[in-house]
Amino acid sequence: MKVYYSLAVAALLFACTESKKANEPLSGVLGDSAMVVSAHPLASQVGVDIMKKGGNAVDAAIATQLTLSVAFPAAGNIGGGGFMVIRLKDGSTATLDFREKAPAAATTNMYLDDKGEVIPDLSLKGHLASGVPGSVDGMIEAHKKYGSLPWKELVQPAIDIAKNGVVLTAREALWFNQAKENLEKFNSVKPQFLIRELWKEGDTIKWLAMAATLERIRDQGRAGFYEGKTAEDLVAEMKRGKGLITLEDLKNYKSTWREPIIANYKGHKIISMPPSSSGGICLLQLLKSIEPYPLTEWGFHSVKAIHLMTEAERRVFADRAKFLGDPDFFKVPVTEMLSKQYITERMSNFNPEKATLSSEVKSGNIAGYQSEETTHFSVVDPQGNAVAVTTTLNGWFGSFVVVDGSGFFMNNEMDDFSMKPGVPNMYGAIGGRANKIEPNKRMLSAMSPTIIEKDGKLFMVVGSPGGTKIITGVFQTIVNVIDFNMTMQEAVNAKRLHSQWLPDAILPEKGALSEKDSLTLANMGHKFTYIKGTGFGRVDAILVRKDGKLEGAGDYTRGDDKAIGY
Ligand code: DON
Repeated sequence: MKVYYSLAVAALLFACTESKKANEPLSGVLGDSAMVVSAHPLASQVGVDIMKKGGNAVDAAIATQLTLSVAFPAAGNIGGGGFMVIRLKDGSTATLDFREKAPAAATTNMYLDDKGEVIPDLSLKGHLASGVPGSVDGMIEAHKKYGSLPWKELVQPAIDIAKNGVVLTAREALWFNQAKENLEKFNSVKPQFLIRELWKEGDTIKWLAMAATLERIRDQGRAGFYEGKTAEDLVAEMKRGKGLITLEDLKNYKSTWREPIIANYKGHKIISMPPSSSGGICLLQLLKSIEPYPLTEWGFHSVKAIHLMTEAERRVFADRAKFLGDPDFFKVPVTEMLSKQYITERMSNFNPEKATLSSEVKSGNIAGYQSEETTHFSVVDPQGNAVAVTTTLNGWFGSFVVVDGSGFFMNNEMDDFSMKPGVPNMYGAIGGRANKIEPNKRMLSAMSPTIIEKDGKLFMVVGSPGGTKIITGVFQTIVNVIDFNMTMQEAVNAKRLHSQWLPDAILPEKGALSEKDSLTLANMGHKFTYIKGTGFGRVDAILVRKDGKLEGAGDYTRGDDKAIGY
C-alpha cells in the first residue's frame, strides 16, 4: 500500500464531502428489556430466543458465539479465540481471556528463514499459522461461572442451524468465492462446502461435520473438543500440513479470568479487556489523553478533533509496540501506563498546530495494511446484565485450514505475535520482546470488548473487529456518543479515521474528510494513506438511553450486522 505524502494527492483522494446530517436523530433498534447486536441476524435471534427462555446475558452470549461459528464462519468460530467482558446488574465485573496460545513446540524464530528474514505468509496461511483454540473452553468456563440455562440448550441452536443450513447473503457468497483459491490450496482433503464451483446470494450451505462436532461439545463439554474425536481430527489435520498443535496442547489449554481494566472518562466508568489484549489499555490511554480538551466545542470531525485524536493514537500505538504482551510472560506496566502523570507526560509535546513525526515519538519501520475481519457482539438481558464479546480466527477464514472430519476453520492467530522486532504483522502492527513468540504464550490482541457505566448504571456495550482499527473504532464510537451527543446508531455509522503511529499516516474511511479539511491537516504535517474497501471494522453496540430504552446499533453500512431486541 502506497503512502501518499503530497498535499495534491491528499486533496484528490479525499474529495468526498461529509453527508449532510438529517434533522432527526437516527435511531438504532429499540428494546424495552433485552438486546443482542451481532454480525449475523441468525446469531442475534438465537441470543434473543435464549433470553426469552429465561437465560441471562452470558447464556445468550454463549449461544450467539456458537451460532456465529456456523452462521458467520469467516470469523465466528470454535477454532479461534477471543475475549469476554461482563458487567452484572449489581455492578460487579469480570473478564475472560480465551485467546489462543502458541503450541508448546513454537519457537521465537519459527517464521524466519536462514538469513533471519520473515518467510512471507507462513504465519498467515496454512497449518503452521494456528494457535491452540480457546473459544470452546471460554464458553464452558463462562457457563460454569455465570450460566443459568443447561449447557445443552445453549449449544443446540447452533447445531440445528448447521444441519438446516445457512442462506448466504451477497456479501457472504463473495467472501467464500474470494477465499476459494486459498481454501483449496491449504486443505489436502477437500472440505465438503467446496464442492460447488461458485456461491451466490440465496444459496444454502449445510455444515454437517461441524454439526457433529457441536453435538460432541453439547454432550461431552470440554472433552468434546479438546479430547476424543475432535482433538484427534485436529491433530491429524496438523500433521498433514506440518502444523504444531498436539493432543497435549489441546488438553492443556485453559482460558483465564482476569481483572478488567477500568478508568473514568468524563464521568463515565469504562470497563475493558486487560492484556493479553492491548485493547483496554490502549482505549483508556486514548480517552485519558484527549480528556482535557473541549471536543464537544470543537465538533465531530473538526480539524482540531481529528488532529488531537491522531496525535493521541500515535503515542498510544508506540507504547503498544513496546510494552504490551501476554502478562503471563511479560510484566506489562498497566498501572504506570494509565497513570495521570504518565499520560500527561506523553501528551506534553502535543502541538495543536502541527503533527508530530512518528519518528520523533519512537523510531520504527513503515507497515502495510490489509482489511480482514473478526467479529464482535453485545448483549443486554432483561435483568440488566451485560456482556461484550470479541472473537476471531484473525483473518477471514483464519488459516484457511478446515479440520477434516470435524469441519471447522482453524485460526491464523500466530501472526499477531511479533515475528521479528520491528517487522509488521498483517495489520501493520509492530512489536518487540513483549510480544515475541514463546511456547504456550498468548499473542497480543487489539480486541476491545468494552462496557461503560454512568452514575453507577449500565450505559453502553461496545466493540468491533478490524485488527488495530478495533481500538480506534471503539475509541471514536465512544467519543461520538459522549462528546458529540450522537445516538448509538449515528455513532456506529459515522465515518471513521485511523492512525497507529506506524505507518506515519492517517487512514480516512471514504467520505470521512472533506477536501478542505484534508488539505488543512496536510498543511499541519499529517500524511495520508488511502485504503480500499470497507476495512474499518464493524461496531456492534448497545446504548441505554435516558428514557431507559435499549438502543441496539448494528454496523449495517459496513456489514450484515443486526440488532434484535424486545
Ligand atoms: O486479536 C487481534 O487483534 C486480531 N487478531 C484481530 C483480527 C481482526 O480484528 C480481524 N478483523 N479485522
